[in-house]
Amino acid sequence: MIPLSLAEVAAAVGGRLHAADPDTRVTGPVEFDSRRVAAGALFVAFPGERVDGHDYAAGAVAEGAVAVLGTRELPGVPMVLVDDALAALGRLARAVVDRLPALTVIGLTGSSGKTTTKDLIAQLAVRLGPTVAPPGSFNNELGHPYTALQATGQTRYLVMEKGARGVGHVRYLCDVVPPRISVVLNVGVAHLGEFGSVENIALAKGELVEALPADGLAVLNADDPLVAAMASRTAARVVRYGESADADVRAVDVTLDGQGRPAYTLVTPEGTAPVRLGLTGRHQVSNSLAAAAVARELGMPLAELAAALCDLGLVSTRRMDVFTRPDGVTVIDDSYNANPASTAVALRALAGMHRGGRTFAALGYMAELGAYEDEGHREVGRLAAELGVDRLLVVGEPAAPIHEGATAVSDWGGESVLLTDQAAAVEVLRSELRPGDVVLVKGSRYRTWEVADALRADVPGDGAGAGGAA
Ligand SMILES: Nc1ncnc2c1ncn2[C@@H]1O[C@H](COP(=O)(O)OP(=O)(O)OP(=O)(O)O)[C@@H](O)[C@H]1O
Ligand SMILES: [Mg+2]
Repeated sequence: MIPLSLAEVAAAVGGRLHAADPDTRVTGPVEFDSRRVAAGALFVAFPGERVDGHDYAAGAVAEGAVAVLGTRELPGVPMVLVDDALAALGRLARAVVDRLPALTVIGLTGSSGKTTTKDLIAQLAVRLGPTVAPPGSFNNELGHPYTALQATGQTRYLVMEKGARGVGHVRYLCDVVPPRISVVLNVGVAHLGEFGSVENIALAKGELVEALPADGLAVLNADDPLVAAMASRTAARVVRYGESADADVRAVDVTLDGQGRPAYTLVTPEGTAPVRLGLTGRHQVSNSLAAAAVARELGMPLAELAAALCDLGLVSTRRMDVFTRPDGVTVIDDSYNANPASTAVALRALAGMHRGGRTFAALGYMAELGAYEDEGHREVGRLAAELGVDRLLVVGEPAAPIHEGATAVSDWGGESVLLTDQAAAVEVLRSELRPGDVVLVKGSRYRTWEVADALRADVPGDGAGAGGAA
């Protein structure tokens, strides 16, 4: 964090000091995991049901923390006392970004592709100046301020993913770190369970552009009508990206190579340039255009932009992470999470990859779909069959409607099997996969990862091409 005295911290968070010298400065990081504390740190103690951060406060001070931000006094521990540590962390982040006038905050939201596109924007922005972007998602009321607190006087760009599980969440995150550039990717049915309706999802995502100042910029997906309509909800200038004819930053002549990697002609008001992405899946056209629209706005010239787009790589893992094992089996590890839209793009990528063998899809349960759960799973199964996937492994009873959707497609030449769990899927894959086959692994988190990891670990000495660090 930028150096602040404890008096300044207390003022920023609306707290009071206890057993602390107001002039002592926080010069290190703000951490809530005592194992990460370094000299000069501020340790944040969250009261928890299972683990109470206050139990680790004295240890954090012994490791070099100059004070603890917490909710109750601890003997002999210098403290900034507050009622709500999470809200205080948000206020502290706001105080820090308000002290950094040279910082441009780029916020993005959408139902699918936030982390992927955040990583793309960060890869472009860092070419223009020091950039802070969170690892992985870090998109909630904890990860968001935590990331913002990493910004310093040198940082020029802060790229923030803003997640929402309900109306008002994005607005809160924008109060914590107000964006100057807001990017809205898409409105789908992810988290429909919590939101209740697609309209509510659009309402929630649009809060990101409502939060913009008049001299800010809204970057909107021209190809998604619910996103394009958000132009009327902002005082800021609007730039539209997409394949639509009226987009300001467009892709035309999109093609996919045999490995599912898109190429296109980038069309901007400054001219056109060819782009060949190293990323897998047609949806990366849209994600890369969003990133291009931002980088263009930050001042990257067209020729440099086109070249930089070609160099984009995967940063966060398990998102269309494609690797070919030494035995000639290609794995698409898209196991981070799943909803019908992201599964559809992954299935299309799978269907577009020709390695001379068969296509397999191991699909698990898609969480948080609410009333759309049954139909969402069925649709995915139907699409897998319609795309001609050769072998569908539906993992776990809750995902059964995928199996039903697929088997209902009468002229499908492939085969679907409903399996009890991940271990069973791994067993089937081990016995059936042959060189040249391509297998997609997808589902909502946790246990689906086991399938991808087993496929990764199966061949001694593998590691070839596995995409990027966490
Ligand atoms: N533009 C897109 N449209 C549809 N699916 C996409 C798009 N971009 C990425 N995906 C897929 O969506 C899944 C989640 O990607 P990612 O983690 O980037 O999204 P996210 O919005 O950050 O998700 P979360 O809400 O879980 O943080 C991945 O399987 C990815 O391949
Ligand atoms: Mg994410």
